[in-house]
Amino acid sequence: MKGLILSGGAGTRLRPITHTSAKQLVPVANKPILFYGIEDMAAAGITEIGIIIGDTGDEIRAAVGDGSAFGVNVTYLPQEAPLGLAHCVLIAHDFLGDDDFVMYLGDNMLEQGLSDFVTSFESDRAAARIPADADGPAVPAAQILLAKVDDPSAFGVAELAPGGDSVVRLVEKPADPPSNLALVGVYLFDATIHEAVASIAPSDRGELEITDAIQWLIEHGHRVRHEVLEGWWIDTGKKDPLLECNRLVLDVLEARVDGSVDDESRLEGKVIIEAGAVIERSVIRGPAIVGVDAVVRDSYIGPFSSVAARCEVIDSELDHSVMLADSRIVGIPRIVDSLIGRSAEVQQSNARPRATRLMLGDHSRVEIS
Ligand code: TTP
Repeated sequence: MKGLILSGGAGTRLRPITHTSAKQLVPVANKPILFYGIEDMAAAGITEIGIIIGDTGDEIRAAVGDGSAFGVNVTYLPQEAPLGLAHCVLIAHDFLGDDDFVMYLGDNMLEQGLSDFVTSFESDRAAARIPADADGPAVPAAQILLAKVDDPSAFGVAELAPGGDSVVRLVEKPADPPSNLALVGVYLFDATIHEAVASIAPSDRGELEITDAIQWLIEHGHRVRHEVLEGWWIDTGKKDPLLECNRLVLDVLEARVDGSVDDESRLEGKVIIEAGAVIERSVIRGPAIVGVDAVVRDSYIGPFSSVAARCEVIDSELDHSVMLADSRIVGIPRIVDSLIGRSAEVQQSNARPRATRLMLGDHSRVEIS
């Protein structure tokens, strides 16, 4: 079994962060989202991983390297443009050969690991090949993961056969959803998918859609299994889901103090202070993480906040927010629900005339109370 992680794409919904960096490298609890996916694959015993890269490929290569830090071998597969999830399978054919593979969207995160998902596919395929079971179900060519959602019309939705043991149809963002089961960004395929992705045409938005490729499998008599997700799943491609994911991950980390905290500071609840971080005259209320060599002085860091390496929070209050590396917040009474990009600065000024002065990147969003 090989792994295919999709880490190209445009990332328009996370601009301006994605003007300069890959969305898959935005940190959750100070670790790039992509690393969680690679670690999940390694834990499921998958060591040959292809990573699809686009315009931000150099940054992904620099962060992941050859994969040895994760105990895996990584092969980079450049995609000339984000032409769709099924296009990624098309260009990965040489790397994948005829092997079964897990395809994983590099900006998705799951609470459950991949091991059970992979094992159920493999054992079902093995059982279906036993000759005595010739009248049993066919060998599955694919397995999808489904999550119960409240608003299925925003997702790819699966329609199951009566009895619920096989998928009969997939519909992309249906006006009249046939179920509340949305397609999660993790898929298992055997080599039959290569024929499917080569047979379908681009959709109205000009992309080769993976839902169309899976639908092709169903229409050509191949069995598509499904599993229903346990635990949470988040597509982190927008700010608020990203903050929610940060909240969920911080909630399960263990407290640890490797940096320095002075006597006038207080850490409450689950707080991680990384090596080299300095906390002075401040309150940090967990769950929260303060990264390597960061400085928090005369400030309050509230629950569900991640402050990355070398950030500075001085004379400020921050709550339910994510700061990327090297950013600074100085003299700001309260920042909440915010995502602050790398090397960004937010600071109070006493200059006259009293006014808000901005220098914002394209597609930035600021809400001023
Ligand atoms: P999406 O989030 O569906 O697409 P996107 O990255 O273009 O984002 P946006 O809608 O905000 O513009 O992609 C899911 C994952 O798959 C993500 O990690 C990017 C990756 N991807 C590719 O690698 N190649 C592609 O052709 C596409 C469409 C996505």
